[in-house]
Amino acid sequence: MSTTSIDSLLHENRRFAPDPAFTANAVAKPEIYDEARADRLAFWAKQARELHWHTPFTQTLDWSNPPFARWFDDGELNVAYNCLDRHVLAGNGDRVAIHWEGEPGDSRTITYAELTSEVKRAANVLAKLGIGQGDRVAIYMPQIPEAIIAMLAIARLGAVHSVVFGGFSAESLRARIEDADAKLVITADGGWRKGKVFPLKTTVDEALSANAATVEHVLVVRRGENVVPWVDGRDLWWHDEMAAVSDEHEAQAFPAENPLFILYTSGTTGKPKGILHTSGGYLTQTTFTHKNVFDLHPETDVYWCTADVGWITGHSYVVYAPLANGATQVVYEGTPDTPHAGRWWEIIQKYKVSIFYTAPTAIRSFMKIGREVPQEFDLSSLRVLGSVGEPINPEAWVWYRDIIGGGRTPIVDTWWQTETGGIMISALPGITTTKPGSAQVPLPGISIDVLDDEGMHVGKEAGGLLVVTEPWPSMLRGIWGDPDRFRETYWSKFAHLEGGPYYFAGDGAHLDEDGDVQLLGRVDDVMNVSGHRLSTMEIESALVSHELVAEAAVVGAHDDTTGQAVVAFVILRSRKEGTVTASEASDLLRAHVAQQIGAIARPRQVFIVAELPKTRSGKIMRRLLQDVAEGREIGDTTTLTDTSVIRLISDTMQ
Ligand code: WTA
Repeated sequence: MSTTSIDSLLHENRRFAPDPAFTANAVAKPEIYDEARADRLAFWAKQARELHWHTPFTQTLDWSNPPFARWFDDGELNVAYNCLDRHVLAGNGDRVAIHWEGEPGDSRTITYAELTSEVKRAANVLAKLGIGQGDRVAIYMPQIPEAIIAMLAIARLGAVHSVVFGGFSAESLRARIEDADAKLVITADGGWRKGKVFPLKTTVDEALSANAATVEHVLVVRRGENVVPWVDGRDLWWHDEMAAVSDEHEAQAFPAENPLFILYTSGTTGKPKGILHTSGGYLTQTTFTHKNVFDLHPETDVYWCTADVGWITGHSYVVYAPLANGATQVVYEGTPDTPHAGRWWEIIQKYKVSIFYTAPTAIRSFMKIGREVPQEFDLSSLRVLGSVGEPINPEAWVWYRDIIGGGRTPIVDTWWQTETGGIMISALPGITTTKPGSAQVPLPGISIDVLDDEGMHVGKEAGGLLVVTEPWPSMLRGIWGDPDRFRETYWSKFAHLEGGPYYFAGDGAHLDEDGDVQLLGRVDDVMNVSGHRLSTMEIESALVSHELVAEAAVVGAHDDTTGQAVVAFVILRSRKEGTVTASEASDLLRAHVAQQIGAIARPRQVFIVAELPKTRSGKIMRRLLQDVAEGREIGDTTTLTDTSVIRLISDTMQ
């Protein structure tokens, strides 16, 4: 199910060579490719030594029990210490860590010294509530500094956070809290979005009402200033607890493989997977990639990644890597168009942002609004632009470079996943001659390949499946509580190959005439809507949980702005037919999915149909439904039991 066709990738042939002036000052030197090729493990060990280790490691990689990797295993470190204390001790306490901008226009500037003392205080609060090494804490918060402070405080104690994006429903939150047996939930009384305060605490209450017996306390940050229900003994105000403890806290050392966080992501089944990341390897690769891919000069750059901390991009490139690198960054709470369409560009102008990292969906929606909006602002501080989350079409790439980057800035299209923890494939600014719409080259120390279904290398100018052929430091260490699913999902497809097992990413890729990689989108039942991963099965389960629905099939259909959009085909229960009109049913079901999973999963369209196209073995042929949803000629129907069904659906839609 590719979201980008090779045709659209190939019609843009321009190449952009690095500017020699940029190259002269670039962090990344071309030699690092050779260095990594000569000795991959020595290369990663050298990157790891850039961090502060309480106990230095002597072993780089233990891959004796694949697919369970152990990196820097006998080393000990504290992740939060690396992100905070060491910068203060190095004399950089006065450097701004976060320029935070609230959606209503309030703002806060937080230095490294201030952030360090807040995190120490928060660590004391959590310790007082009984949180220690290995305990799980759920975070359900808006994009405010306290979300970052909470994550770092949990890391400081060697505990494990599970951040749940604030747009997820009570039901999704409950499932995640239960799967991880969280002891504590940290939330807020609301957050700002599109000019309004959205509730969070009440959603937590709803999530905890059903079960979640493991949760002992709910810590609530005041942000929305609205009245929230209170469970005495369980609920605590963050500011009360913070005021009651000291800001002295000594960071303890934890093993490199100590779990750092769980982050749930959609897979091909209905149940989200808890992707587990650990400490030393994760911090090594995210820090290295952040510095080299974005050409970070921490003394002078102002970096801004627009991702929410609820997603992996927020974890790696808002929280851990920028802070470990001592960067100054912007964090913005709200939506790009509130209160006006130029809000992002205004923020870039205000803080003189020099490195900007966002998703193609956002770029495409700005293209639609028009270049006049960004052109009202001074964007001349920008010098590196990044893209992540989905394939970027060449038109959007070129617009990004020309209109936002003033035709000067290198663009880095970074491919990676929740599972990979850090960037895997990307141009390096100052080194790579870039190609619009192409992620291009694996980073130094990363080994990838593109294979056909049998595991043969596809060669140049051919497409296939993307695999990672060697373990990498920030790789996932498993799926929380489910080692079999971990093996089966990622490592079974190419387990038999010599040198394997290989990691199967779930993405299709094409190698061009130079052997550079172009990503083509997911090849499994995972959709990518606005850079967010959604599972067709999860949405189908949500649909059939509604009393109106007998059967449902969901596909990701091409969408000019969001990349893909959720389109559902639904058969109503016969006794319910006639009680609602098709359009009422469609509205009800769209709302039902939003309520069950979260607004990001709400289908763009729900079509009520009489039948679904099925093979003789009873499998729904989603490929044909996708043809219909995208208004294409319907593909091969020879395996269908009843070929008239798909015609009927197609006619109904027209
Ligand atoms: C897709 C986000 C093309 C891909 C960091 C991957 C991309 C999924 C790119 C992971 C890119 C991410 N070009 N596709 N530069 N970056 N993807 O876990 O399909 O939310 O498998 O991680 O996004 O999404 P996730």
